[in-house]
Amino acid sequence: MCGIIGFTGLDDAKEALIDGLQSLEYRGYDSAGISFFEGSSDKIDTIKTVGKVSCLADKVEEEGNMETTCGIGHTRWATHGGVTEVNSHPHTAGRVTLIHNGIIENYGELAEELAKEGIKPVSQTDSEIAAMVINYYYDGNPVEAIKNATKRFEGAYGFCIMFKEYPGEIYAIRNGSPLVATHYDGGSVIASDVVALIKYSKDYFVLQEQQIARLTKTDITIQDMDGREIDPEYLHVSWDIAAARKGGYDYFMLKEIHEQPEALQKTIMPRIKDGMPYLLDDGIDDDVFKNCNRVVIAGCGTAMHAGLVGKNMMEKLTRIPVSVEIASEYRYADPIIDDKTLFMCISQSGETADTIAALRLAKEKGAKTISVVNVKGSSIARESDYVLYTHAGPEIAVASTKAYSVQLSCMYLLAFRMAAARKSLVDDEIKELVKLLKKTITDVTKLLKYDSQIENISTMLHKASNLFFIGRGLDYALSCEGSIKLKEISYIHSEAYAAGELKHGTISLITDNVPVIALATQDNVYGKMISNVQEVRSRGASVILITNAGVSVDPALCDHQIMLPKMDDRFAPFGAAIILQYIAYYTAVGRGLNVDQPRNLAKSVTVE
Ligand code: F6R
Repeated sequence: MCGIIGFTGLDDAKEALIDGLQSLEYRGYDSAGISFFEGSSDKIDTIKTVGKVSCLADKVEEEGNMETTCGIGHTRWATHGGVTEVNSHPHTAGRVTLIHNGIIENYGELAEELAKEGIKPVSQTDSEIAAMVINYYYDGNPVEAIKNATKRFEGAYGFCIMFKEYPGEIYAIRNGSPLVATHYDGGSVIASDVVALIKYSKDYFVLQEQQIARLTKTDITIQDMDGREIDPEYLHVSWDIAAARKGGYDYFMLKEIHEQPEALQKTIMPRIKDGMPYLLDDGIDDDVFKNCNRVVIAGCGTAMHAGLVGKNMMEKLTRIPVSVEIASEYRYADPIIDDKTLFMCISQSGETADTIAALRLAKEKGAKTISVVNVKGSSIARESDYVLYTHAGPEIAVASTKAYSVQLSCMYLLAFRMAAARKSLVDDEIKELVKLLKKTITDVTKLLKYDSQIENISTMLHKASNLFFIGRGLDYALSCEGSIKLKEISYIHSEAYAAGELKHGTISLITDNVPVIALATQDNVYGKMISNVQEVRSRGASVILITNAGVSVDPALCDHQIMLPKMDDRFAPFGAAIILQYIAYYTAVGRGLNVDQPRNLAKSVTVE
């Protein structure tokens, strides 16, 4: 949420900032802006505009012919204050210019205090108030100003700050919102996401909470709030720049859909030893599973939906009660947690504010915590007792696709290992399941070839204004995922319903030609599911039916049937996910929408 970048080095900073913002644009695209020191002088110029980074690039081309080697840039997802140029970042107050990711919750109170001193903002943003507070405490010493000002801030922040008297230098501090940085031969770079650094170096470090970084073209120094110098721990990214580029695809989302077999391969295969699930290299030993009497899985959106599938598998295989919680609700629900609770959280970014808060609450109450996370060194990964990294590589499209599939695979691996640890299944049964999990990699590869079939079928959805996803058991969990994917990028209202629940109210919304996407991949409820499809069909619904391979249905039952390749029904979610991702993608493309940057959304939700 909000992309931020700072560059100081030997090369043109404007180019570095625009390039960095382009790679961070998925974090917010309401407006964009940069500020930079003119040459080696202490004059700071700011160029900003409403709209995408491409609009900013045009404006910089027109107005920004001055030379610079040090600057900061921001792409905004609006929280406080409308989408206007004055509310765009960077914000300047006196001798301080900053960019901010996060929310200063007590900004109203701070603004009142400043007003009493006659200091008034020009924008409606909490970020400008932050700049004003830092400027208020600034008497020529940047670090002291940052320390004194941040003591007054409540909320989350990642700041990059330039002080007029310090050309060529960028100061940064974080609390909650992520910041990563690297120093390379040509200078120093800091950003909200490693995708903006990879062009310079594959080695980077995560700025830890309440540490202050000072970037110059020759080095980066870090100190904590007590002035102690800190040696950052450098991490290494295993993917390269090509992974963060579209690589010939029309959209990142399509590219990421196609990357699923590789992501699954990288996530599953290193965790299989002698045919059994093996998590010791991740530091997860069997005692973790033996010592719990219940599991809680928390996450948001798609990540939470992966948890719904995880619950189904874990309960079936281990007979341990599992609950799935929406992280933003969980933290305020006074939940029952104790030291026998195994708390799992799922997050692609590892920075989702609500999921972090749920994790902290679970830890505080004594639960052991395992996180399933894609981004190395992210807050959730660092704060959990154990981490099972998904190896999806960078996910740039706002709609999560490959991250979901690998999250599913981790849920299965955890369920299998738990069953082994608790001896709820014998090893041979587990080995059979492991084989089936490996087979999903080839099944998903086959499913990628369904693209043109699904593109054709999706034309029936282009003009829809409402539709339903229905399913039972695992298919209900997949319906939830299919529905969020479709609505977030196609803007068609849709709902996911447990198929048996339709009759309890919702079926009144089914009229002629309302599309219903029905998932019927689960053998134990297949007959019941077909009855539910008949119920909507007889009320005029247009039906797309997703079944297992070789299932023949009465042609009158649906408009289109999409058959999975031959898959064990317990593993059908991996296949159904691809079909549902394609349905969402081709429907949105057919409606002429920007699939990667749906309106109002942003990747990585670092505010509550
Ligand atoms: C939907 C989507 C979101 C995220 C959710 C959690 O396609 O991407 O629902 O799944 O915002 O994000 P992470 O996984 O980063 O915690």
